[in-house]
Amino acid sequence: MEIIIQSTRAAASKLAALNIARLVQAKPNAVLGLATGSTPLMLYTELIRLHREEGLDFSKVRTFNLDEYCDLPPEDPNSYRFFMNENLFKHINIDIANTRVPDGLVQGAEILRHCEKYEEDIRAAGGIDLQVLGIGTNGHIGFNEPGTSLASRTHFTTLTESTRKSNAPYFGGLEAMPYYALTMGIGTIMDVREVVLLAFGESKAEAIAGAAEGALTASNPASSLQMHPSATMFLDTAAAARLVRRDYYEWTFAHKPDWQ
Ligand code: F6R
Repeated sequence: MEIIIQSTRAAASKLAALNIARLVQAKPNAVLGLATGSTPLMLYTELIRLHREEGLDFSKVRTFNLDEYCDLPPEDPNSYRFFMNENLFKHINIDIANTRVPDGLVQGAEILRHCEKYEEDIRAAGGIDLQVLGIGTNGHIGFNEPGTSLASRTHFTTLTESTRKSNAPYFGGLEAMPYYALTMGIGTIMDVREVVLLAFGESKAEAIAGAAEGALTASNPASSLQMHPSATMFLDTAAAARLVRRDYYEWTFAHKPDWQ
């Protein structure tokens, strides 16, 4: 795992956006895996800027989002489909038909079929070239909560109390916050060609330390990325604060290791 630490969220987001821009330039029909939440917002703002000001062309790009809440229609402002349309898709020249988000409205036996089809569609698209990830304070990636099988594929999942509490403010309180979601599995994420994980702020520091330097364990799902051949974490200093090793090669601000 490569770890890139920048002094600000903006700088880390710009570097991550550059990775995506380079990929899309080299492979115009690249398949991007996308995330929602507060973490990738600046990354998406930068991609929009690259499109508007530097002509970055998304016309052939295809996307698969990591996850979606169950029982929220796409027009609900808290649905991840709504989030993606508002924060990225409507501002770039992507063909909306090429953008996929799991359907949180499927019910009962349809759920399994929908999840299998999501996996089939990712395979049919040629696999995901680059996956954007955030991380939960409990180490979740997508909605793969602690204890999820490291081999899991796209599935229906129960959100933990900690995730429900973290995301409740968006819903105006815990009562309105969903209990269930559909998510790509850890196995799905491990199959992507390149992982770009972003984490900002001190609330992520413990999860990041566990993921980057702790044991490989389903208790911290992001630690599975230690086994990924091409995973990079883009962190701000607050999210990196609990890392102990000091050998990350791209500290681009004056950093004095505390053992010197
Ligand atoms: C979102 C997702 C989640 C978030 C994580 C962090 O699609 O899959 O894993 O990345 O919950 O959320 P924020 O960025 O809001 O702190």
